[in-house]
Amino acid sequence: MCGIVGYVGNEQCADLLIEGLRKLEYRGYDSAGVALLEGSLVVVRAKGKLKNLEEKLRAEKPRGTCGIGHTRWATHGKPSDENAHPHQYAGVAVVHNGIIENHLELKAELAGRGHKFSSETDTEIFAHLIAEEEKSGGPLVAAVRRAVARVRGTYALEVLSERSPGTVVAAKNASPLVVGLGKGENFVASDVPAILAHTRSVIFLEEGDFAEVTNEKVSLSNASGESIERPVRHIDWSAVMAEKNGHKHFMHKEIHEQARALTDTIRARASVETGDVHLDGCSLDAVFVQSLTRIQIVACGTSWHAALVGKRMIEELARIPVEVDLGSEFRYRDPLIDKSMLCIAVSQSGETLDTLGSFREARARGARGLAICNVLGSALSRESDDVLYTHAGPEIGVASTKAFTTQLGALFLLAVKLGRLRETLTTDAARSLLTHLRELPALLEKTLLCEPSVKLAAQRWSGARDCLFLGRGPQYPVALEGALKLKEISYIHAEGYAAGEMKHGPIALIDENMPVLVLAPRDPGPQPGAAYEKILGNLQEAKARGGQVIAIHSEGDTMVAGLADASIEIPQTHPLLLPILSVVPTQLFAYHVADHRGTDVDQPRNLAKSVTVE
Ligand code: G6P
Repeated sequence: MCGIVGYVGNEQCADLLIEGLRKLEYRGYDSAGVALLEGSLVVVRAKGKLKNLEEKLRAEKPRGTCGIGHTRWATHGKPSDENAHPHQYAGVAVVHNGIIENHLELKAELAGRGHKFSSETDTEIFAHLIAEEEKSGGPLVAAVRRAVARVRGTYALEVLSERSPGTVVAAKNASPLVVGLGKGENFVASDVPAILAHTRSVIFLEEGDFAEVTNEKVSLSNASGESIERPVRHIDWSAVMAEKNGHKHFMHKEIHEQARALTDTIRARASVETGDVHLDGCSLDAVFVQSLTRIQIVACGTSWHAALVGKRMIEELARIPVEVDLGSEFRYRDPLIDKSMLCIAVSQSGETLDTLGSFREARARGARGLAICNVLGSALSRESDDVLYTHAGPEIGVASTKAFTTQLGALFLLAVKLGRLRETLTTDAARSLLTHLRELPALLEKTLLCEPSVKLAAQRWSGARDCLFLGRGPQYPVALEGALKLKEISYIHAEGYAAGEMKHGPIALIDENMPVLVLAPRDPGPQPGAAYEKILGNLQEAKARGGQVIAIHSEGDTMVAGLADASIEIPQTHPLLLPILSVVPTQLFAYHVADHRGTDVDQPRNLAKSVTVE
């Protein structure tokens, strides 16, 4: 997500903060800012690149031997000077990564006590709450602890206060924070690269930790205020490794970030208790949703695969016919559209020209537009009636991974919402679906444990010329996505197929040189599901022709494991959510094949992250 750096020492630190933020630039950001403390607080912020902030700093020359800095990737509120961090109120300045779920409630409560807000962000709440809590006395860290207790959500937080000179207080929940230890100076940052030029001795904070950092001392405590110890680690990563948080490639890092990204996508939106879904940025109501005759989804690449899964989710849960088309096809086929339709565009970047063109066409013909995208303020989000952000954070690897799984999370939320508004889902049914969704980040984390067996399979078949991916039902788009990932980064020819179509063509390709990756998870519960039984047949057909079968199956399924040449287990969940788990081994397979072949994993030849041409 966004980048954070903080310093306490004896040097003037504006340049040091900028230098630290520059080391985090590669992650993408839309604005930046610093707060410096020497007597009083000075906050300087600028939209756009760091050079804009540097120009302002050169002009204003603020002083401070204690400071915090931030590069922002917008989540709440457009990119602007006002929404850039740090946010300040009554002598308190804060920078924050993460999302506060109950910020609207807190904002209303604070406004009721006369607080005025100067930004659209959720973060500003922290400055107000901490300033209020400081009035009860005690050290700054105690005020931060009390403030944080009132907040639900994820945060990596750094705080300065005019009433606590020479101190930075930090707090962590879900978003990373690392303390760097120096001589007569200390650092706190979201990521190691920001401080690597100054120290290699670090402490990684853990969930619920608070750190009180001065130039001489770092004191750690927990939510109850008890002192705690964390090990000091020596970092021997190179600067390049540090950018990837110790991972060899951004793609690998992003595959491993998926549980957190999914948590951010579903957090605050799904209420398991009531079965309700609250989609901030979408004002769909029962009258409109009940009058809908059809939904059209447009997308490209990986987002198109997410849309194909989304179609199944919406049709099954909300009983509305859904058509999915490629952005590059839809806009040129004189589509049949009217006011009774909703057009959904799915796009990580929100800038893909074909998707944007199709979306504009649908809206121009009267459809209401809903964008599912990851980049706040993108062209798509600006032109849409409703926007559902995925909150995956910046995705740097060209091959999309966490964007896909968060798109599926967002589409599932939308499907439940539509089902509730159309009354095709009872409260109990919705509660059960949302319970499955809430359990998913932990299951995704568990799925990642398959990596060693996937890596072995990847190394064994990394010399293949072609590879076939087969799936049925919601697993068919996963087969398409798995094949796309493999061809994108390893340059092996790969095809994804609906397993039932194999007999109409691809079966002719199968011989002993052809790895066939079969997605064969079974439904939870006593019945394994019709798709499962049929895909077992397809698996055996492939084997009978000498194909080398790599099976992705449910844990404990000895039947599939016994038939396959390599077997990869995933946990069970609701069939409509299974693609979020089953895609993970396909991502890892593509990654390890490509890594073994030595291709440029993060920047494959001829491909771009955001395709803004036709
Ligand atoms: C490019 C990227 C893909 C992405 C596709 C659609 O081809 O390399 O990873 O899926 O564009 O991008 P979007 O930003 O619209 O999701």
